[in-house]
Amino acid sequence: MNKFYITTPIFYLNGSPHIGHAYTTVAADVLARFQRQNKQEVFFLTGTDEHGAKIAKSAQKANMEVHKFCDKNAQAFLKLWEGLGISYDDFLRTSEPRHEEAVKEFLNQLKSAKTPKNRPALYEDEYSGLYCEGCEAYKTESDIENGLCPEHKIKPITLKERNWFFRLLDFEESLKKQIGLKKMKIMPEGRQKEVAGFIKHGLTDIAISRANVPWGIKVPFDESQTVYVWVDALINYLSALGWPKSKKFEKFWPADLHLIGKDILKFHAVIWPALLMALKIELPKSIFAHGYFTVGDEKMSKSVGNVISPEHLIKQFGADATRYLLLSLYPFGQDGDITIEKINLKYKSALANGLGNLVSRVLNLVETEFEGVIPVAVPSPRNLKNRNKLLENEEIYEAIGEIEDAVAFANQYIEKNKLWQIVKTKKEEAGIILSGLCALICEIAKYIDPIMPNISKDITDRLSAKKITKGEPLFPIV
Ligand code: MSP
Repeated sequence: MNKFYITTPIFYLNGSPHIGHAYTTVAADVLARFQRQNKQEVFFLTGTDEHGAKIAKSAQKANMEVHKFCDKNAQAFLKLWEGLGISYDDFLRTSEPRHEEAVKEFLNQLKSAKTPKNRPALYEDEYSGLYCEGCEAYKTESDIENGLCPEHKIKPITLKERNWFFRLLDFEESLKKQIGLKKMKIMPEGRQKEVAGFIKHGLTDIAISRANVPWGIKVPFDESQTVYVWVDALINYLSALGWPKSKKFEKFWPADLHLIGKDILKFHAVIWPALLMALKIELPKSIFAHGYFTVGDEKMSKSVGNVISPEHLIKQFGADATRYLLLSLYPFGQDGDITIEKINLKYKSALANGLGNLVSRVLNLVETEFEGVIPVAVPSPRNLKNRNKLLENEEIYEAIGEIEDAVAFANQYIEKNKLWQIVKTKKEEAGIILSGLCALICEIAKYIDPIMPNISKDITDRLSAKKITKGEPLFPIV
């Protein structure tokens, strides 16, 4: 049995989970379920990123003690993942002692590590420059537009403090080589060029500690400093496996797939591999950076008033349909625009009038015209054979497209041949057609299992009942 280690980013706890977090995590869940179905031993990790100035300030604003604030918001993520049927194997919180231990060990090892140029990987220096607390990242003047961070629309703070620095610049050649050799695959296609661009133009040594940020993990060899929150966060991929020594680590490392949004590509495809190289730890096998969505062509934000809440979607459409809808609106890997209207329309066309209607009309005819028994064993009139190839390449949108084509084919076939009429006049012929459609629905049910596991089981149960009945609508219109 092969192993498959898949991770999501760990999400900041400064607010409640939103649909962007849900998007990544549902996609990761689909890929994890698919790999399990293909008999891989899967370890699926997600969790929360709890340290740093941003979260400490949000707790203060909410007038809560920071641990309590994090507990409350971590619960909201756990609840949402439960609501969406996320089958994670571990949920790591960076405030857990198991993580803190691994971070300290990592920092200690870095302290004695050497760069490819045989210089110490860490050195002390003064950082003087800008820092955006929204990104939790150091910024240069060229990153700033009209005095603001373009992503968070806030003014970066000016820092002047003594920090520990990591000699990222010494890793330039090694990074180029790794990426050129495609040993660490960066996907989709265009993202690799983006990373090559970062390496060519944007490498500088980076501060890996902060002074005056009390909510964090202390640098083990310098208690006046806390570990920079991004370094703290990236190490979650190791700490969850019990690094440095554990059976789980030996079994599951390197990660097969770090699934992330495009906003955090540099951290994952440049800084993380350099840190791992410094400690001579194998690099992740692949990184997939998906696109970002806007809502009505604007960044989703409370102030614009265009927030789509994942809880609202689950309440309106159910968990399975929400999972499907999130991934069916635009290709995974690209940017896209969503609106509640587009989601509603897709629900009606693809699910209620598409798959739901197909299952309902076919099972209805089996129930009423053939006493609930599929008349003959015939193969499906259409082969759905691309799923494995598509999902192995993270082409979730294209896989959904293949299902939608098959559903449209079957619904058109029923209408063109007026199946509800020929069942009265040419019963034998209609029985063969109907049996073929049942075989196709059975294939669709298997195909959609990673995306809509409950609907898949529901369809399979209906089809394998001794006496088939139409049953309740799979996707009611409310
Ligand atoms: N804590 C860091 C990640 C550390 S990983 C070692 C972080 N957290 S975050 O809460 O800001 O989550 C960012 C991730 O949320 C993105 O990479 C992406 O996966 C997801 N998304 C947030 N908004 C999104 C959209 N509008 N569209 C799609 N995905 C979005 O960064």
